[in-house]
Amino acid sequence: MDFLTSGTHLHLTTWIIALILFFIAAVSPKKLTGVQMVLRVFYILIIITGGALFLEYRDMIASTHNGSGMTYDMKVLFGILVIGFMEMILARKNKGKSLGIFWVIFVIVFLVTLYLGLSGGIGWDLF
Ligand code: HEM
Repeated sequence: MDFLTSGTHLHLTTWIIALILFFIAAVSPKKLTGVQMVLRVFYILIIITGGALFLEYRDMIASTHNGSGMTYDMKVLFGILVIGFMEMILARKNKGKSLGIFWVIFVIVFLVTLYLGLSGGIGWDLF
């Protein structure tokens, strides 16, 4: 399955589209059931593309980056947390519940995920 692991573009594409769909659903005054269903399909695509990168590169990264794959493991954990917070925010918004602290945590978890992804060793390696 070379197309999944020959670069990070597919993974980037899936989470950027998911993020756009999430914001559309989050700012809409109505519940956008269709958008939320498509968004859930994208969650699965994010997990498949991220999971493929993880399986392909984790051991290699663990042996070249200070002998530790910790960043990689944390990346998966935080990536899943981002998805979790998108779901929680939309669920609470649809029920009319308060969101303040959830947005704060979402932004923090998202920034940590970006940092971990961009320091992972493959694709862009900014940090
Ligand atoms: C919405 C959630 C997510 C966001 C915003 C996100 C973001 C990113 C970013 C910015 C990169 C770096 C791409 C590059 O260097 O070119 C990346 C890479 C990666 N992501 Fe995600 N990701 C998310 C979810 C996931 C999930 C759920 C998994 C695992 C199941 C995952 C696993 C990975 C792996 C293994 C890499 C490669 C790290 C590297 O060496 O650069 N991601 N992700």
